[in-house]
Amino acid sequence: MNNTFDLNIYSDRRARLAKLLGQDGVAIIPTAPEQQRNRDSNFLYRHDSYFYYLTGFTEPNAYLLIFSDGRSVLFCQPKDMEREIWDGYRLGPEEAVKTLGLSNAHSVNVLSTELPPLLENKSSLWYPFSTHKGLTAQIDQWLSVVQSKARAGIRAPSQLRDVCLLLDEMRLIKDTHEVELMRAAGRISAAGHIKAMQFCSSSIKSNQRIYEYQLEAELLYEFRRSGSEFTAYSSIVASGANACVLHYRADKAPINNGELVLIDAGCEYASYAGDITRTFPANGVFTKAQRAVYDVVLESQYAAVSCTHNGALFTDPHQAALKVLAKGLLDLRILDSNKCGNPDDVLTNKTYFPFYMHRTSHWLGMDVHDCGSYTEPANETQNASSSRVLREGMVLTIEPGLYIRPSPDVPEVFHGIGIRIEDDALVTGAGCELLSRDVPVDPLQIEKLMA
Ligand code: GLY
Ligand code: MN
Ligand code: MN
Repeated sequence: MNNTFDLNIYSDRRARLAKLLGQDGVAIIPTAPEQQRNRDSNFLYRHDSYFYYLTGFTEPNAYLLIFSDGRSVLFCQPKDMEREIWDGYRLGPEEAVKTLGLSNAHSVNVLSTELPPLLENKSSLWYPFSTHKGLTAQIDQWLSVVQSKARAGIRAPSQLRDVCLLLDEMRLIKDTHEVELMRAAGRISAAGHIKAMQFCSSSIKSNQRIYEYQLEAELLYEFRRSGSEFTAYSSIVASGANACVLHYRADKAPINNGELVLIDAGCEYASYAGDITRTFPANGVFTKAQRAVYDVVLESQYAAVSCTHNGALFTDPHQAALKVLAKGLLDLRILDSNKCGNPDDVLTNKTYFPFYMHRTSHWLGMDVHDCGSYTEPANETQNASSSRVLREGMVLTIEPGLYIRPSPDVPEVFHGIGIRIEDDALVTGAGCELLSRDVPVDPLQIEKLMA
């Protein structure tokens, strides 16, 4: 644990969850399993976000139990001199109790014998239903141990509930600690983009041959240099028409003078994600056609940002962006108004769809596509079908784009242009705070930055 670790952040969250478990409830939240890459090499380990949210603990092989009376118990890797020589320091159960502020902790080696008794005479058992492969089978096993004691008068939990329903609602509203970390993730991610943009234009201007993966290297350098542990997702660095492939990766394509480059990349800092997209001219100066499409996407992003505030619907930014994009597609004659009608017709008939096929926003937090329902939770008076109302502390991306694949119906100057502009918005009372705007979106500022 680092020396800024504040156990109160996590024990407060556990206390909040405990209150939601009902009478005699217990929750089991495991961390993520290690993932084999090949033979005896694993992928770099990343803890489970739910588990981390409640513990701040990053070691693998750990299970957290929270009881409705407020107690919490951890099963974690035991101290082991030999394993620690090979794999590094382990906190161990004894130290975990003090450091993490738990009621009790055990070695994970005794999980199968020590965990089932903790479920005895509990009425409900909460666990993640769909995020931890193999957990349901483990739960079945632990429950059958408890059920086998029925004749001794011991009851097993009779209600099985998805703990993610509770945790998703908690994680949807970021607390002050999380907001600080997300600001840092936004700042570092933005610095990475600036570094890649400047490297790109200076290389092109000095006639150096450069490739997408080299811009990825600039991003990674900046992220790691600033203390980020991982990228929040695989970086997209797409030169030219590759930008029209939504899930493109930084690959081996050369970056050519005169083309656009789309970078969608964000760092993960202290477990929180940044998620930024910028599209810029490789040589630092937009062509007329590139600029025309860019201006439409930018205007659509401004429109979306302006209706992102406390009390708005999650779908409002998307609708606002669509409206601008529909008009822009007609103005640029990418859509023919004789065939497609006016902007309202374009929206009604979804004729924009071949050029804009994704949503404008997703939740952002510890996971890049963060947890949280996009509809209001069901209650006695309404079904869970109406769009989520934005509240202070929610964080969402705002990422409109246009992707123009070659087609005989579209003016040739626009063929292969793919543009997305993505920022991370923290909902505030009056509007939203953009956490990622240290890297500009204004085309003149981009040209200045790359000059
Ligand atoms: N980079 C993933 C996304 O923008 O959703
Ligand atoms: Mn995104
Ligand atoms: Mn993105």
